[in-house]
Amino acid sequence: MLLEGKVAIVTGGGSGFGRATSLLFAKEGAKVVVVDYNEEGARQTAEDIKNAGGQAIYVKADVSKEEDVKHFVDEAVKAFGKLDIIFNNAGIYVPGNAEEQKTEDWDRIINVNLRGVFFGCKYAIPEMKKNGGGVIINTASAAALIGFPEAIAYAASKGGVVSLTRAVAVDFAKAGIRANCICPGTSETAITKDVLANEQLRNMFLAPIPMGRFGQPDDIAKAALFLASDLSAYITGATIPVDGGWTMA
Ligand SMILES: NC(=O)c1ccc[n+]([C@@H]2O[C@H](COP(=O)([O-])OP(=O)(O)OC[C@H]3O[C@@H](n4cnc5c(N)ncnc54)[C@H](O)[C@@H]3O)[C@@H](O)[C@H]2O)c1
Repeated sequence: MLLEGKVAIVTGGGSGFGRATSLLFAKEGAKVVVVDYNEEGARQTAEDIKNAGGQAIYVKADVSKEEDVKHFVDEAVKAFGKLDIIFNNAGIYVPGNAEEQKTEDWDRIINVNLRGVFFGCKYAIPEMKKNGGGVIINTASAAALIGFPEAIAYAASKGGVVSLTRAVAVDFAKAGIRANCICPGTSETAITKDVLANEQLRNMFLAPIPMGRFGQPDDIAKAALFLASDLSAYITGATIPVDGGWTMA
């Protein structure tokens, strides 16, 4: 097992990539703290882990609120004694270009997608330092790598996540903390459900993917597992597209 004895926090663990990653981390031996503001989703993921013989707790939290993030890091340490891994993955998407995006949507997207990742790092790092190191994995997006239509705030937030990840990697490498980010391409989860239900948009998003299929939650979970484990022991500050070749084409 790749994560035997490790304690991992997964934000956005109630759905999509976060749920798949929580289940995979637990299968690989990690004790998982499932965080989501959708309490029912988080509870279900933790329940499924326990039913499969793993160990998990869930915490309802909004990652854009500093006190919530501090609380779930404290809960992880209280439940399992330490913290080794955090997957800062919770995120939201509201379409809009620079002319039309509402300012309140801009603020909410930046607060969840970027400020939330900052808080995750800020409160996880001191706990990781106590054990001589740890692993941070952040979910950015292909929207951080290429011009992405109708996503001004989302693209900006995810570009920020890429830069933040590099900054954390250089600041804390000597503390034994690795930080990397995953840039998923268009994938079939709740966040894309409405867009991909529209046949015209579905075809538009599928056309530029060389592998000819959308991403699935397990595609991201496997990349997260690689980055969380010692298989990636000499990788830090990296931005890893998991997108079927979309941003390489
Ligand atoms: N699906 C895609 O095509 C795609 C592509 C690139 C990047 N992403 C990113 O992947 C990440 C996961 O998204 P997903 O595709 O699994 O979508 P999803 O909607 O299935 O899961 C996101 C989860 O995050 C939770 N969440 C949202 N805001 C939160 C908050 N403030 N506090 C706590 N939890 C919150 C939601 O309740 C949900 O359970 C997001 O950061 C998203 O931007 C998704």
